[in-house]
Amino acid sequence: MPAVVLIGAQWGDEGKGKATDVLGSRIDYVVKFNGGNNAGHTVVVGDETYALHLLPSGILTPSVVPVIGNGVVVDPGVLFQEIDALTVRGVDCSALLVSASAHLITSYHRTVDKVTERFLGNARIGTTGRGIGPAYADKMSRSGLRVQDLLDEKILTQKIAAALESRNHLLVKVYNRRAITVEEVVDELMGYADRIAPMITDVSLELSGALDRGQTVVFEAGQAMMLDVDHGTYPFVTSSSAIAAGACTGTGVPPTRIDRVVAVIKAYTTRVGEGPFPTELVGGSGEDLRARGHEFGTTTGRPRRTGWYDAVIARYTARVNGVTDFVLTKLDVLTGMETVPVCVAYDVGGVRYDEMPMTQTDVHHATPVYEHLEGWSQDITGVREFEDLPAAAQRYVLALEEMSGSRVSVIGVGPDREQIIVRHDLLEG
Ligand code: GDP
Ligand code: IMO
Ligand code: MG
Repeated sequence: MPAVVLIGAQWGDEGKGKATDVLGSRIDYVVKFNGGNNAGHTVVVGDETYALHLLPSGILTPSVVPVIGNGVVVDPGVLFQEIDALTVRGVDCSALLVSASAHLITSYHRTVDKVTERFLGNARIGTTGRGIGPAYADKMSRSGLRVQDLLDEKILTQKIAAALESRNHLLVKVYNRRAITVEEVVDELMGYADRIAPMITDVSLELSGALDRGQTVVFEAGQAMMLDVDHGTYPFVTSSSAIAAGACTGTGVPPTRIDRVVAVIKAYTTRVGEGPFPTELVGGSGEDLRARGHEFGTTTGRPRRTGWYDAVIARYTARVNGVTDFVLTKLDVLTGMETVPVCVAYDVGGVRYDEMPMTQTDVHHATPVYEHLEGWSQDITGVREFEDLPAAAQRYVLALEEMSGSRVSVIGVGPDREQIIVRHDLLEG
């Protein structure tokens, strides 16, 4: 019974939520290990559509214990709004565990996120405005507030007072905003203390016990490889470790316990926010792909930028994450195209790059080298066996597999939980 890390291979929104949900009843724990409510996972179950942000997707499966790891930044107001909204719809959230060491997002972080973006002007990142970057900045500068601080109001008050001293200078003198008082932050946070207290857990201890008992644990990433703070398109990234290694730092489970790394990858590419995107389609063809794939953000509703599949990114993801399996989603969206372009390498100033260029300057200047694969026109949304796909769709998948550095084990052919083709069991080697 394995420990499986599930990550996004591109710039997010690959369908990670659905992939976790599909594993559903076979797993015992689903642990979110990075990010916060910047994530948006849409999961379709029959007639019901759920949009999850801070909660792990495993919350939709009654037998799964959902866990929020220490690598996550938690906005407690959002946490309880999400729990309450799901509870009204009949989803039981009572098993949720939250790491004592996860950091907290407060109104201060949300404010700083928005004003820094405004001050950056054209150089803005295009963040989700949820306070993610400022909360991680405080964590790294060792002035953050953690979930465990909610257990001791005196300590919490001291920490808030210390943090606000310098933050208020910044808000008032640099950004022209009003100062935030210690009392308002204490009141905001202590309002959640009694409710969160029973969920607070030593997540490392809990998960190592689960793995010792032979239970199956899925570590679910928010965001994706190319948004990773170290290995993504810095500075146009999120502020956390979205790669597979983040599952270890973000939960306290060691690398030696991880058995499988599953990367979810779309049959084309999308990106929300600013930053380089070599295969981006601008104008009508980009809009066409956006409309076909319903590419609008789950969290902010922003239209997603769209482009073709990028095998340079896929190979980079396979290498940095040690991917054992790809889940290829949204193949159905490409139905009806005569040919489908796939980027096999980059051209940077006349030089061919088969691997991700070392510098961001080169990534910004990369233009795609395309191969044009044959398209298919038959509806594939009802197909459940690989051999029943049109021959050209099979060849498209096999070509991607060959150029992307790992096997394609599952294929998504529609948004519903049931709309998948399984070629290899994700939980088996
Ligand atoms: P996540 O952030 O990686 O969990 O992905 P999102 O939920 O933000 O975006 C993925 C979208 O694609 C969601 O609306 C899913 O319902 C949808 N989706 C997932 N897999 C498939 C698929 O195979 N085909 C189609 N058409 N839609 C899919
Ligand atoms: P899921 O988990 C797509 C992007 C933002 C912005 C950058 C930094 O649904 O795949 P942040 O608010 O994190 O500081 O914003 O990262 N971003 C995402 N894009 N999917 C996500 O999550 C994202 N989470 C953050 O658009 O460009
Ligand atoms: Mg998403």
